[in-house]
Amino acid sequence: MTAEPLERSLDHDPLTRPGLPPDDLPLDLRTARESDLPELRRLDEEVFQDFAYPGFLLRQLFDMYEEHFLVLDDGTGRLRGYVLAATRTLGRDSWILGLCVTPDRRRHGLGRELMREVLSRLRRDGIQVVRLTVEPANLAAIFLYRSLGFRPEEPDGGLRPDYFGPGVHRQIMRLDLAPDRGLP
Ligand SMILES: CC(C)(COP(=O)(O)OP(=O)(O)OC[C@H]1O[C@@H](n2cnc3c(N)ncnc32)[C@H](O)[C@@H]1OP(=O)(O)O)[C@@H](O)C(=O)NCCC(=O)NCCS
Repeated sequence: MTAEPLERSLDHDPLTRPGLPPDDLPLDLRTARESDLPELRRLDEEVFQDFAYPGFLLRQLFDMYEEHFLVLDDGTGRLRGYVLAATRTLGRDSWILGLCVTPDRRRHGLGRELMREVLSRLRRDGIQVVRLTVEPANLAAIFLYRSLGFRPEEPDGGLRPDYFGPGVHRQIMRLDLAPDRGLP
């Protein structure tokens, strides 16, 4: 699939193209800001519903991991996706705690762009191992992670029954970040 128009930035304002309908606007992939929190909460609830982060936790995750909290900004006040990675300094490892793209923008390469950017920042910051959990039937996410080099973390093919409580199983996937190697 062809990637959507995408502008990566850290410091400049999102690009806008007056006259175009919102869904044709290029997206700005940038670090999350404090002012994004209400929209991030709305987006998280839209996509994850019962598994959305409570507002207070999202706030504290932002406080802790701001530099690895990235959003896709459409320039109209709406966010179309985010990725969040949490790091552990002592272990030089990281967990992806959230990844999503709004349903209307899926299958255009945006999930991969979010992941590639956060993995690139993690590598730059000296992180060597990245893990994540995924619902074992979530093939869209699993295919995406596999395409980036993630593999199930043994034992049992990464399967962890009741990981998030009774009946809420997860697969754990892992990527080793070599400092000198690029991402797929
Ligand atoms: C998972 C998710 C982030 C993928 O975002 P996306 O922007 O649609 O993904 P991309 O377009 O970048 O796809 C990258 C690759 O992932 C795989 N993929 C993505 N969606 C897929 C689908 N519906 N079916 C099969 N493969 C899929 C493909 O390998 C794809 O590469 P290709 O387009 O070259 O075939 C998105 O589906 C989503 O937000 N899902 C709901 C939230 C979620 O499940 N998050 C992950 C929690 S662990």
